[in-house]
Amino acid sequence: MTAQLIDGTQLSKQLRADVARHVQELQTRGVTPGLAVILVGDNPASQVYVRNKVKACQESGLHSVLETCDAHLDQEQLLARIQRLNEDPSIHGILVQLPLPAHIDAHKVIESISPAKDVDGFHMVSAGALMTGMPGFWPCTPYGCMKMLESIGYDLRGKHAVVLGRSNIVGKPMALMLLQKDATVTVCHSRTPDIKNLTLQADVIVAAVGRRNVLTADMVKPGAVVLDVGMNRNEQGKLCGDVDFEHVRQVAGWITPVPGGVGPMTITMLLVNTLEAAERTLR
Ligand code: GUN
Repeated sequence: MTAQLIDGTQLSKQLRADVARHVQELQTRGVTPGLAVILVGDNPASQVYVRNKVKACQESGLHSVLETCDAHLDQEQLLARIQRLNEDPSIHGILVQLPLPAHIDAHKVIESISPAKDVDGFHMVSAGALMTGMPGFWPCTPYGCMKMLESIGYDLRGKHAVVLGRSNIVGKPMALMLLQKDATVTVCHSRTPDIKNLTLQADVIVAAVGRRNVLTADMVKPGAVVLDVGMNRNEQGKLCGDVDFEHVRQVAGWITPVPGGVGPMTITMLLVNTLEAAERTLR
């Protein structure tokens, strides 16, 4: 058996076309959704990510501003910038690219973003809304994973989902989203004994550890859905995920590739959240 691919590039194209249509509609009502992206320092990976985010905004007709700051920017200056953006009516979403330099308290920075503009979904208000099933912004990567499952018509009710990784950005919110759709959810992490025993029982596996070959073919039940959130490089410098793709695809029913899987969906959901933030200002 060879797994069917869930093509994140193709799905993103469709969803971004929907976003672009909605942006045009909003513009007829006098609002252009606006996203502000703040990058502190010169982390090369972060530079690529923020450039891609700003480019995606432009392609879908959103207004976007990129604020780059010196790595030595002090925390108070950063908080003042965010405060200015919180008060700017042309900006509906604010994203501070992580990681931040060590001298800045990332938690304090995230909490300074207005929850109404927290399109990354990292604020405690957003996390609390997700946990309690109330309206709020969902973190873009797990939200993108849910859209991928939806795109294949996958019904999570009563299914066993195993999430590998417990980060605040992916693992924990992913588990809550799957639970909200009535899956039975297991979260595995570095202290979990015998992970293979758990993944072999899984109908859905989300790999979000940040290490190559965390999920190998012998760990996957035939026909399972495998979503690969990883973004790693192999010895040749080639982008690869957390999943041993070539072997796992022989066992799984569905699988997301890297690149071209979850990655493009993360940016797409950022556009969706920014559009939603702008729409909420009109309600
Ligand atoms: N760094 C890695 N992923 C993300 C993300 O989704 N949002 C932000 N702000 N920073 C990140």
